[in-house]
Amino acid sequence: MADDGIQQAGTLRFEESARQVAENARFVAGGVNSNFRLGMAPGPLVFERGEGAYLIDADGNRIIDYYCGMGATVLGHSPAPVIAAVQQQVQKGILFAGQAPIEYEAARLICERIPSAERLRFGSSGSEVAQAAMRLARAATGRRIIVKFEGHYHGWFDNILWSTAPGLNAAGPEDAPTPVIGSRGQDPAAGEGLSILGWNDLAALEARLARGDVAAVLMEPAMCNQGAIAPAPGYLEGALAACRKHGALLIFDEVITGFRLARGGAQELFGVTPDLTIMAKAIANGFPVAAIAGRAELLDLFADGVLHGGTFNAQPVAMAAMVATQTALTAEHYERSSAQGQRLQDGIRAILSEAGITAQVAGFPLVFHVAFGLDAPARNYRDVARSDKAAYARFAHELLKRGVRVLERGAWFVSSEHDAEVVDRTLEAVRAAAREAAAG
Ligand SMILES: Cc1ncc(COP(=O)(O)O)c(C=O)c1O
Repeated sequence: MADDGIQQAGTLRFEESARQVAENARFVAGGVNSNFRLGMAPGPLVFERGEGAYLIDADGNRIIDYYCGMGATVLGHSPAPVIAAVQQQVQKGILFAGQAPIEYEAARLICERIPSAERLRFGSSGSEVAQAAMRLARAATGRRIIVKFEGHYHGWFDNILWSTAPGLNAAGPEDAPTPVIGSRGQDPAAGEGLSILGWNDLAALEARLARGDVAAVLMEPAMCNQGAIAPAPGYLEGALAACRKHGALLIFDEVITGFRLARGGAQELFGVTPDLTIMAKAIANGFPVAAIAGRAELLDLFADGVLHGGTFNAQPVAMAAMVATQTALTAEHYERSSAQGQRLQDGIRAILSEAGITAQVAGFPLVFHVAFGLDAPARNYRDVARSDKAAYARFAHELLKRGVRVLERGAWFVSSEHDAEVVDRTLEAVRAAAREAAAG
């Protein structure tokens, strides 16, 4: 059964991962290169390679992966067209500090695909292009305040890492959240340019915008860092109208939702076109590409005194990966992978219900969220924060022991490699882990 993916509970061992992480903590702080890779039971894993829907770790375990590179690998771990494009491009050179035809092709593809994208600039990470979007909005409006929502994440920089996952004891009243700083060492003054609100509450947003000092409203158009929550009917339309009325810009952070909720992102799915959009993750199936796109006259400010730089911006090999990824993301791809993603989600919901576990399974076919202990769908961060995270983390660990890797925070990312057979194997593991969870 070694190559079967699903093993008996407890048969998977992770000792070699643990050994390598501990040994290499001599060189790499904490043994990991992102804090988000630290806290997973039984500990951070080391992977040798990825194949389709599977990761093979240092202990030789073949694990079905629902991290999907934190949402990036929408085509799975080793898509042949992306690898071929990268191999071809790398022969031509690595970094020109100038323009290359491949980046213009990449830009055209995104502008054709994303409704708000009249023009764009490329960057290397979501955190970076979030900074570019805020700078552009402040330059365009001459105002300072960015409205940010509780539970939404837009990168790890000082001026935006606020109230991303605040403890309810620190978060203040729901209708007037207390800004909660995200890290030791963060400059508290950097948060003065933010106004933190609860998401999915149009009246609160309208009231805040009416004060007339907001440069931009920045949001995940469907909240996918905490939960996988759709906007309430009319919320995005209302937010756009209120921004227009009060002279603010609307920025969609589609770093997760882009190329996942639909090819054209949440803006295509919900039919609301923001002023600016930031994208990353699935745009190039795991290569470090990000983009800020939007109305031409806003993007043109980058050619008129608003600085945007980056040595690695539009790195040609990453651009080749992006073009190949976007070319492979056909309508047929979405149909096929969405059908399996939906089947998986429905299957998990049914299994948990049969096991007598109170849970909400909600979201979209290619990104959804499982929350234990909630008896109604979550509408915002406060609802998600009330879920039983410890019980879900134990369930996630039971799944890992059975060869299925999911995020402890409840998110599941699906790729086109998660086919019917992979989904069947996953559901088998879910059934066993649910029995453990119900018993425990
Ligand atoms: C919605 C959202 N925005 C921005 C970011 C930051 O992107 P990156 O990790 O590429 O800097 C993330 C990362 O998870 C994200 O989920």
